[in-house]
Amino acid sequence: MPMASRVLQLVLVAPLLVLLSLTIAIEAASTSNDITGRSPAPSQSVFSLDDYGAVGDGTNDDTQALASAWNAACSSSQPATVLVPGGKCYLLKLITLAGPCKSSSVAVSVQGTLVASPDRSDWSEDDTRHWIVFRRVDKLTVNGGGTVDGNGEAWWKYSCKINKALPCKDAPTALSFHDCTNLRVTGLNFLNSQQIHMSIEDSTNVVLSRLTITAPETSPNTDGIHITRSQDVQVTNCKIKTGDDCISIEDGTRNLYVSKVTCGPGHGISIGSLGDDNSRAEVSGITIDTVQLYGTTNGARIKTYQGGSGYAKDIKFQNMIMYKVKNPIIIDQYYCDSARPCKEQESAVEVSNVIFNNIRGTTATKDAIKMNCSKNVPCHDITLKNINLKTEGGKDATESTCQNAEWRKFGIVLPQPCTA
Ligand SMILES: *[C@@H]1O[C@H](CO)[C@@H](O)[C@H](O)[C@H]1NC(C)=O
Repeated sequence: MPMASRVLQLVLVAPLLVLLSLTIAIEAASTSNDITGRSPAPSQSVFSLDDYGAVGDGTNDDTQALASAWNAACSSSQPATVLVPGGKCYLLKLITLAGPCKSSSVAVSVQGTLVASPDRSDWSEDDTRHWIVFRRVDKLTVNGGGTVDGNGEAWWKYSCKINKALPCKDAPTALSFHDCTNLRVTGLNFLNSQQIHMSIEDSTNVVLSRLTITAPETSPNTDGIHITRSQDVQVTNCKIKTGDDCISIEDGTRNLYVSKVTCGPGHGISIGSLGDDNSRAEVSGITIDTVQLYGTTNGARIKTYQGGSGYAKDIKFQNMIMYKVKNPIIIDQYYCDSARPCKEQESAVEVSNVIFNNIRGTTATKDAIKMNCSKNVPCHDITLKNINLKTEGGKDATESTCQNAEWRKFGIVLPQPCTA
């Protein structure tokens, strides 16, 4: 590093250090207030798994200990924290942590590791879709810097995507949130989920930040973050490497802001699939901003099945950098994820007011921009602005193919839209 930039770094870091020490001083001061008795000692509202019989050796079943610690925290009359101590590994089977809670807020501080039982027979046939579930909790925070390990290897080999002879069955989502309000999930590592890593469902006012999600590129259906029927959701500063969608945005998502996310390997950021089994879907107010994609199969994608209804509208994909992405920009209204071809149908989810702005980088195939919209319900108000996508190595020209799409362009758009 040149001297000049080292000096610059110091200049930048010094005020930060001052700030940091100030914060520590303030925190120390407030802690000592607690001890002097003006408010209850913080330890009174911390419920450690170890105080509820957990062993934390990675083999003993600690499910009951977490359930008990949760119940104590949730029924506490003051803000409460469930502590998963650091440096230990707690094995869990299927568990639901439900509210509403008496405490005005609950935190779950995962400092150690929560690991899923590797034994599939611990899941009954009635529910193989969940592992750790939070339900109906207001002001829930899950944080702590620890790890949620789904032990997914035990499940992946039974996936119909891996072994085509097997029937398609669900495997658990590692962490799911249902009917939560004012939810924060921050500073956590997810590893090798059985299927989806984290799912946000029927929830409002959600912040997901500083998450790393890691599973092999070959692991089946291991979406990073799945969002459905939820409003006012922010996803920021996440690193997601999996075998399926980085972020999947499903029916009922409204007002979602994604920023500073790195994806890949995996299938990229996807709105949909919407409208399966002739269903109605409503997705609106989606911004995907400042995202890097490394070697993903798709970049910015909207996918719908034939025969659906409803809409996907007011969507922005902007400031995206792609590295060797197969389909950087794709709207596919003929999506079909079944062994048999999907039959032609009249209706479709209407796709409109979509902006692709400032998207550049390299592609792994020549298909840089693809808009394959419904014959009966064409896509409209599609804006392409400042796009520069080249094939990796730059030997071949990229292409843009379109069907039933009403679009306009601003600035420089490479490849030239809708020429092939
Ligand atoms: C659009 O999808 C249909 C159905 O899969 C396919 O036949 C057609 O070739 C596609 N068009 C483009 C432009 O990719």
